Amino acid sequence: MTSPPSIRTPRLLLRPWRDADFPAFAAMNADPRVMEHFPKTLNRAESDERAAAIRQHFNRRGFGLWAVEVPGMADFIGFVGLCVPSFEAHFTPCVEIGWRLAFDHWGRGYATEAAIASLDFGFRRLTLDEIVSFTVPANRRSRAVMERIGMTRSLEGDFDHPALPEGHPLRRHVLYRANHPDEEMPDSSRF
Ligand SMILES: CC(C)(COP(=O)(O)OP(=O)(O)OC[C@H]1O[C@@H](n2cnc3c(N)ncnc32)[C@H](O)[C@@H]1OP(=O)(O)O)[C@@H](O)C(=O)NCCC(=O)NCCS
Repeated sequence: MTSPPSIRTPRLLLRPWRDADFPAFAAMNADPRVMEHFPKTLNRAESDERAAAIRQHFNRRGFGLWAVEVPGMADFIGFVGLCVPSFEAHFTPCVEIGWRLAFDHWGRGYATEAAIASLDFGFRRLTLDEIVSFTVPANRRSRAVMERIGMTRSLEGDFDHPALPEGHPLRRHVLYRANHPDEEMPDSSRF
């Protein structure tokens, strides 16, 4: 298998994961501010398992949640990219776009810049017809990224996440969709 592709954007490098990323990823996953909208923070072993699963997804599919680097400034700030969810819902099988950045790197447009490049990869390189994204309704920052990159909420798309038990406060999710845009791709050079 050839190594997964890297993507350059004006400020970022989306690249394959390295072992050296694992400690910084674990620090993010242990931060309650980063994990506010997830069921729990992750310990080192859980975080490493998640990183290994992301690598495995790249090996299997040739794309995934890229490690994000700010060249010359920060070797690893989190992940942004595409993945195939492993659960079943009314909109699966599908390709999802997702992101998680270390708190110190919020508020600079990095998630949006990397997400635009990921959408472009999904539509142009993978020739996908549709990419989805989802989160809990209260995750305002994540929804703002979805909206900034041109995704629209699918009002009939709201769903209960099957990984969470009935009655769990994070079970309800909103669904956003982006369709192959032809000329309408947001231009990442704007960021
Ligand atoms: C979701 C997440 C990646 C969004 O981070 P973010 O910093 O809000 O998003 P961006 O990187 O696109 O940055 C946008 C912000 O940077 C500002 N900004 C500064 N410079 C900018 C630039 N050059 N271009 C664009 N925006 C810029 C924007 O105005 C916006 O500001 P705001 O904080 O007032 O909204 C981050 O909150 C996170 O990792 N959360 C935890 C994990 C998570 O919940 N993931 C989603 C699960 S579904």
